[in-house]
Amino acid sequence: MVSALKDKNILLGITGSIAAYKAAEIIRLLRKRGAQVYPIMTRAATYFVHPITFQTLASRRVVLELFRQEDKIKHISLAELADALLIAPASANIIAKLANGIADDILSTVALATKAPVLIAPAMNHQMYVNPILQQNIDKLKRVGVKFIGPEKGQLASGKVGIGRMSEPSRIVECLESLIQCRDEFKGKCFLVTAGPTRERIDEVRFISNYSSGKMGYALAEEGICRGARIILVSGPTSLVPPAEAEFYRVESAEEMRKKVMEEFARVDGVLMAAAVSDFRPERKREGKIKKSVGERFTLELRQNPDILSELGKRKEGKILVGFCAETENLEEEAKRKLREKNLDLIVANDITLEGAGFGVDTNIVVLIDRYGNLTHLSKRSKREVARAVWDKIKEITKNLYR
Ligand code: CTP
Repeated sequence: MVSALKDKNILLGITGSIAAYKAAEIIRLLRKRGAQVYPIMTRAATYFVHPITFQTLASRRVVLELFRQEDKIKHISLAELADALLIAPASANIIAKLANGIADDILSTVALATKAPVLIAPAMNHQMYVNPILQQNIDKLKRVGVKFIGPEKGQLASGKVGIGRMSEPSRIVECLESLIQCRDEFKGKCFLVTAGPTRERIDEVRFISNYSSGKMGYALAEEGICRGARIILVSGPTSLVPPAEAEFYRVESAEEMRKKVMEEFARVDGVLMAAAVSDFRPERKREGKIKKSVGERFTLELRQNPDILSELGKRKEGKILVGFCAETENLEEEAKRKLREKNLDLIVANDITLEGAGFGVDTNIVVLIDRYGNLTHLSKRSKREVARAVWDKIKEITKNLYR
């Protein structure tokens, strides 16, 4: 598959953060996808990594200064040739400068002069990130169309755990790829994505659940955000970090998921039900812990959970409905049945017996079936790439709905 980044000129702004070393991997990934990379470093960045590293990886001199005699109006030529400006890592300082139109070095000047899309991957100390001034600066930039990825929660340079860690290079590059390919495709639209498993409480210490990791749903949410949609992510328990830009709700049981989805349905343009909702829950609500003294045999009675997607299909209200189905046999027939019975626009079906498909893994092998019976078989690819194909299909379906 040819990357949207092929032959694109990407300006990579690197600012003063310990995460500057991760920019080396970003350059490598961009070049692997065929992009031309123009590294621009702030003075502070050069304290963390020597420009020679980036120069070698990009096969191009790193731009360090605004005023050099040999290249008179470097900032304008760079700004014009750019297909995108990525700033990774972005310090609180560069974000503040961009938000206020300050242009006092080469990077901030290029950022002010370019019409290309801008993607920022912040990296900083937790307290700096949560500082309301910084948050206001981020909001201000978002309002003028600047896109953000991360930061994420994790161990920071200080050794403490908090939010402020730069997103992984692969995630940043994937987001940039989507941004270049289809920026603002779903601008003004709001989609609800469900992800992960649900947990059905047996007693105070036990539950019924399934192997869903949530990766497919989170990839769908991230891809939707990169394409300009507002995303409401309703997730069962997972170990994943929700995208910072999503409106995020964590739920436990199918009943809680149903309640949240129904509450939000009126304000969304579509729902992507990637969650693996438990079909059954224990019939009885039990306090405390079931003791093994109940006997040699113990029967747990289960009751069927409401089918969220079927309920949405009955309401429909002109919204796009996307379902998922994981099967071990009769994949296409089962998928078509669910598509019809749940009144869906699209179903994403995968055979979980195949290697590289289904629960827990980073890849998937799926077939997309729309309500007109069109089938699209996708060979093994990353869940993010599957997400890209799903959103492409949604775009196709909505072509006649939105102009
Ligand atoms: N789904 C739902 N609510 C449920 C069960 C499933 O909204 N209680 C949604 C899933 O999120 C998925 C789609 O319905 O998008 C298909 O789910 P799946 O488990 O494959 O199908 P079921 O309807 O449970 O059918 P079956 O048990 O026959 O496989």
